[in-house]
Amino acid sequence: MPVSTRHAIVAIIVLSVVINAFLFWLIYFHTGGADPQEGRFAWIPAMNAGFNALSAIFVVSGLVFIHSGRRREHGLMMLCATVASAAFLAGYIVYHSLHGDTPFLAGGWIRPVYFTILITHIVFSILVVPLVLSTLLCAATRRWQQHRAIARWTYPVWLYVSVTGVLVFLFLRLFNVDAGA
Ligand code: HEM
Repeated sequence: MPVSTRHAIVAIIVLSVVINAFLFWLIYFHTGGADPQEGRFAWIPAMNAGFNALSAIFVVSGLVFIHSGRRREHGLMMLCATVASAAFLAGYIVYHSLHGDTPFLAGGWIRPVYFTILITHIVFSILVVPLVLSTLLCAATRRWQQHRAIARWTYPVWLYVSVTGVLVFLFLRLFNVDAGA
């Protein structure tokens, strides 16, 4: 393995750990996210859900293109999906820094459904960063066999994270009513 590739793999591991550790701190330990003007930042989650939806559309388009042999268009779609997911991550960090967490208050059957979606979304989103970066690295270094092998895991995980990101937003907007209120 060339030294530059080894450096890139170390960089991917370090970046993935740093991003996930920072998000863990932001979600579970960061305080001071209480917004005094309730609703002021309500547009940010909607924008973030839009980025997730775009990402899902680009991933599916990229897949359709590669299966019809259109490699250039496939590469372009996957780069667009990466930009959409990076924009989502930036928006997510901004919203959590300014507003903090949004609790899910609804009771009944919708509660386990929501938390199943949320927990699987979080678990797979931890994996998606190193998967996407490794798949891109293999494309950049033209190691197509490895690209295909890693991509078989990357695209379903990425699609799941993007789609469930939109679902979490919709659940919080449509069903987040306090059962005891
Ligand atoms: C993380 C982003 C990416 C994912 C998830 C992804 C996904 C895939 C998948 C699933 C395949 C194999 C399809 C199959 O044979 O069943 C594939 C093949 C391919 N991808 Fe990507 N891709 C990504 C990024 C890129 C980029 C940025 C480029 C080009 C600049 C690219 C170029 C190619 C090429 C040329 C092939 C065909 C390789 C071969 O069969 O020899 N991909 N990709």
